[in-house]
Amino acid sequence: MKRLLLSLAILLTSVMAFAGEGMWIPMLLQYNEKEMQEMGMRITADDIYSINHSSLKDAIVLFGGGCTGEIVSDYGLLLTNHHCGFDYIQKHSSVEHDYLTDGFWAMDRSQELPCPGLSVIFLREMRDVTEKVLFNITDDMTEEDRQKTISENIKRITAEVEKQTEYKVSIKPYFLGNEYYLLLNEVYTDVRLVGCPPSNIGKFGGDTDNWVWPRHTGDFSVFRVYADPDGHPADYSASNIPYRPAKHLEISLKGADEGDFAFVFGYPARTSEYLPAVAVDQEANVIDPIAVRLRGEILDIYNTYQEQDKKVRIQYASKHAGLGNGWKKWMGVTEGINHFRGVQKKRFYEESFQEWALGARNRYMYIDLLKNFEQKYKELEPYRVAYTYLSNAGLNIEIFDFAGNFNKLSQVTKETPQEEIDKMITGLKKATENFFKDYYQPIDREVARTMLKEYLEHQPTDFRPGFLNEIKDVDAYVEQLFEKSLFADKDRVMEFLESFKPSKVKKLQKDPALLAYQSLIGFYRDEVNPKMGPINKEIDRMQRIYMKGQMAMEPEKRFSPDANFTLRVTYGKVEGFKPQDGKNFRHFTTLEGIMEKENPDIYDYVVEPKLKALYNSKDYGRYADKDGTMHVAFTASVHTTGGNSGSPILTADGQLLGLNFDRCWEGTMSDLVYDPDICRNISVDIRYVLFIIDKFAGAKNLIAEMDIVE
Ligand code: ARG
Ligand code: GLU
Repeated sequence: MKRLLLSLAILLTSVMAFAGEGMWIPMLLQYNEKEMQEMGMRITADDIYSINHSSLKDAIVLFGGGCTGEIVSDYGLLLTNHHCGFDYIQKHSSVEHDYLTDGFWAMDRSQELPCPGLSVIFLREMRDVTEKVLFNITDDMTEEDRQKTISENIKRITAEVEKQTEYKVSIKPYFLGNEYYLLLNEVYTDVRLVGCPPSNIGKFGGDTDNWVWPRHTGDFSVFRVYADPDGHPADYSASNIPYRPAKHLEISLKGADEGDFAFVFGYPARTSEYLPAVAVDQEANVIDPIAVRLRGEILDIYNTYQEQDKKVRIQYASKHAGLGNGWKKWMGVTEGINHFRGVQKKRFYEESFQEWALGARNRYMYIDLLKNFEQKYKELEPYRVAYTYLSNAGLNIEIFDFAGNFNKLSQVTKETPQEEIDKMITGLKKATENFFKDYYQPIDREVARTMLKEYLEHQPTDFRPGFLNEIKDVDAYVEQLFEKSLFADKDRVMEFLESFKPSKVKKLQKDPALLAYQSLIGFYRDEVNPKMGPINKEIDRMQRIYMKGQMAMEPEKRFSPDANFTLRVTYGKVEGFKPQDGKNFRHFTTLEGIMEKENPDIYDYVVEPKLKALYNSKDYGRYADKDGTMHVAFTASVHTTGGNSGSPILTADGQLLGLNFDRCWEGTMSDLVYDPDICRNISVDIRYVLFIIDKFAGAKNLIAEMDIVE
């Protein structure tokens, strides 16, 4: 029976590991090559990653520190998502040039717009340095000694390699600290905006459709990487020239058919596939639901006011998007984990782990792990909950958060140099302008009332920031707060800053909004963090050992390390899915769907007149699918997460098929537990991207420099 259980569990996990799951290290892709080719791939692992000749990896970048981009021409032309380029598009936008609303297209290189602060990073090489990093590490050393030895080893290896290379050296842990890889990166800092569609295309569907299939977003923007005349990285200069890559992606016009092999190459940020059941349960059934409830209440308040007033709608658009993105995702995590029995599957697996552990060679390391996880996560829970309230209820009260900017000024004394004070005042004036530009007090009052009541109702006295325990009547407190606080009124804040003297800090020190902020932050610093920190450290240690144990239990299995913002290959098939009984989603959407969703009165569903004209004349040119329609987006069973936005999704021949930009919310649990039946990534079809660039924007100059394979 025991054996049976064990082999059943292994079978189950091996099956789970097939078809879509796994974020693979490019330099080790030869171990996946056979499977990838069996699934349809016609290129080799060496075509994807090589350090001996140019390979697809030379066309992939970490874009702006949070997304992925890919090079699509011999002159450094780069594609990423619209939502990844958004900040830079916004920075170049003004009332006269509203690129967010109207789009932007550089018709020649002189019109391309520099984006200070934006960089892209190319991975040049990676090396396995596990043995060197874990040199002198033993199983019985203390955690402190272990960390100290590892840091020293990393420092030494980095210094050695730095002597031999012009690249940036970094060493990162994989498999929760069981393996280490060294990355040689090259950072380019002159990246210019080349083009973007109007938001009605690039953000079509907006937050309403975010995380949802079927989807119709033309989520792309175009940049170009520049280098100095020798091709080396350089900060912006008029004399810089387009970067000439070792490799750029070819673009396929064939489109994505059901069942086709496809892979994504990019920078996934974070996954946690090897957590124990108790951790998954806590996240999906305790933490996420609290954050979802609190954010849901705030979003309801935003919605009510946003619907009443166009100005408020714009003021709160970005805040709404920020809160809404997590809100919807976490809802999907809870649903997905429960519906697809993620916790039970983990428990079943743990039974077999425990059985294996009892007979394992180093059994003393493993036999108590699962029991101890239960204990540690139980200890952690109230602090995690406290932190969730703090960040979602406390700090979403805007007046508190804004007052926090003045914390440093409130500590100024007669001894503080005037120069330092002047600098603070200048910064605070700017912050004040920015804050009030997008602030609507009736919203904040209502958020404050709602969140403080939530806090008092659901958090025990010891788990609340001190100021809350002095509140007798929330409504009265909120009235007083907005009446008394300096921060409720822009003119008063500005006046205060204009005439600031160190003797005036008392006014700040007594301000109820600043006091509340200090209480929130102090509670985290003095109560939550000191308790949570050591528990988390211990959990990290156990997690590392659990990972090691899982790998020892199934030595034949290929494990993929959790995402850690390094370059990865993930693969699967173009396919639709069945999220519920009776619901069967096709794998692609078309321009017909944009017309179906069209509604001139709903901001998210306004269709550009020119797009409509192209639709009416069916002027799709070579970008039409063989079925005659214009395909817009498609789903695939490829394992992705945040950070994969903008990543290329590629064909069996390694040609560009589309840009990844989202997942369907029924499958967002894939960060914790991947289920090939339900987890789907969403990409914009490259043919729609080209259609918009060519037919909609008329930027034929860009089309001409791409390598388009018919
Ligand atoms: N859900 C995508 C991601 O996780 C897209 C977010 C941006 N789009 C939006 N409508 N808010 O980041
Ligand atoms: N939109 C996400 C991003 O910005 C990708 C979606 C996901 O989490 O899979 O990276």
